[in-house]
Amino acid sequence: MKLWSGRFQKETDALVNDFNSSISFDARMYEEDITGSIAHATMLGECGIISPEDVNAIVNGLTELLADIKAGKVEFSADNEDIHMNVETLLTQRIGDAGKRLHTARSRNDQVAVDLRLYLRKEMAEIKEQILNLQRVILKQAKENQNTVMPGYTHLQRAQPITMAQHLLAYGSMLKRDVTRLEDCAERMNECPLGSGALAGTTHPINRLRTAELLGFSAPMANSLDGVSDRDYAVEFLSCMSILMMHLSRFAEEIILWCSWEFKYIELDDAYSTGSSIMPQKKNPDVAELVRGKTGRVYGALIGLLATMKSLPLAYNKDMQEDKEPVFDTIDTVKMCLPVFAAMIDTMKVLPENMRAAANRGFINATDCADYLAKRGMPFRDAYKITGQLVYRCTESGKTLEEMSLSELQEISPLFGPDVYDALSMETCVGQRCSYGGPSPSETTRQIELLQQFIDAHSEA
Ligand code: ARG
Repeated sequence: MKLWSGRFQKETDALVNDFNSSISFDARMYEEDITGSIAHATMLGECGIISPEDVNAIVNGLTELLADIKAGKVEFSADNEDIHMNVETLLTQRIGDAGKRLHTARSRNDQVAVDLRLYLRKEMAEIKEQILNLQRVILKQAKENQNTVMPGYTHLQRAQPITMAQHLLAYGSMLKRDVTRLEDCAERMNECPLGSGALAGTTHPINRLRTAELLGFSAPMANSLDGVSDRDYAVEFLSCMSILMMHLSRFAEEIILWCSWEFKYIELDDAYSTGSSIMPQKKNPDVAELVRGKTGRVYGALIGLLATMKSLPLAYNKDMQEDKEPVFDTIDTVKMCLPVFAAMIDTMKVLPENMRAAANRGFINATDCADYLAKRGMPFRDAYKITGQLVYRCTESGKTLEEMSLSELQEISPLFGPDVYDALSMETCVGQRCSYGGPSPSETTRQIELLQQFIDAHSEA
C-alpha cells in the first residue's frame, strides 16, 4: 500500500511503479534523509506541534534505523518509491503512530531539496580535500624541477624557455580557483529549504530558523516556492566539476604527449601505466586518457541537468528527480579521477635531459635575441625583424642562434657583441625571466610559497 494511496481506487501499474521509483539511486542519501527528519521532528516538538513522547520515539526510531541501514540490515523497496517514503514507512513499521506524525508540515519536495544539499555539502568537502592533495603533489614535483628547463609552447610550437616547475605551477594555480569555486558554491548552497513544504509553506507554527540551525545551514531559504523549485545549486556544483575536469583533462593531455616517444619528457611509473594485448613494447598512459575521457561524461551531466531544468514551471515537477543521477555520477567520477591522477603525477619521472634537448632546438631564445638588441637601443619592432632574418639564415645552415659566429651576427647588426652568447644561453633566458609570476627559479620559489600557504589555509585539519 502506498503512503499516498488514499485517493486511488486502483493499484499502480507495475511498469509505472518501476518507472516512477528513484530508490535505486536516491538510497545513497539515507543518512541525510534521516538527519533532516530528526531535525524536523525536534523542531516540531519544540514548537508544540507534536508531543515530546512522539519526538522521542521518532528520534530513537530513526537513530536505530540509521544504525541498521549502516549495518546492512535494511532492505529498501521500490514500492515505496524513494528514500523519503522508504525511511518513513520503515520508521512507522517500527514505532507505530508516532512515525505517522513525522510528515506533519513537511513534503517530499522540501525533503529532497534538503537531502541533496546536505549530501552535496559532505561530498564537496571530500572533493576539495582531494584537490588540495593533488596540489600537494604538484608542489612536490615543482620543487624538484625549478631548474628543469623545458620549451614553453604556443600553438604546440616551441615558443619561449620555461621550467617544468613553472608549467606544473600553472596547474597549481588553476586548481586554487577550483577549490575556491567549490567553497563559493558551498556557501551559496548553505541555505535551508526545509519548511518550504510542498511549495507554499504551512499553516503549522513551525520554526524554520531552528531547523536551518540544527542542520548547520546559515539561514532558511527566503521563499518557499524557490526552496522547492530550483536546482541551481546542483547545476553550479556540476559547473564547478566541469571546470575542474577541464583542467585535469588539459593536464592529462600533456601527460599523454609528454610520455610519447615524440616528446619523452616524462616516464610514467609502471604501476600507473598499462600494456597492450598484442604489442609487446607498449606502455600506455591509460590513466591520463581515462581522466581526459571522463571529462566528457561530467560535461554531459552538466548539460543534461541544464536541459532538464530548462522551461520547468514553478514549483516542483517530477522531471527534477532526474537531477540526482548526473550529480551522483559526477561525484563518483571526480572522486575516482583525482586520487589516481595525483598518484600518477606523484610517481612520474621527469627526464630533464630530453626537455633540455628540445629546448635547444626550435629557436625558443629568439625573443631573447630581439630583446638583446632592444636593450641596446634598437626599437623592438626592428630587433624583431632582424632576429627573424637571423632565424631564417639559421634554418638554411642548420644552426641554432648561438651557433652563429659573432661576425655572422654582426653582418646582420653591429649591435651584437660577445656578450650575446651569454644572453642567448638557456640559463640566462630562464634565470632572467624574473618578472612577477615568471619562470625564473626566484619567481617559482615565490609561487611555491604562495601555493603552500593556500593549501595550509584551505585544509580542514
Ligand atoms: N523522489 C523525488 C525526487 O527525487 C522526491 C520528491 C517527490 N515529490 C513528489 N511530489 N513526487 O524528486
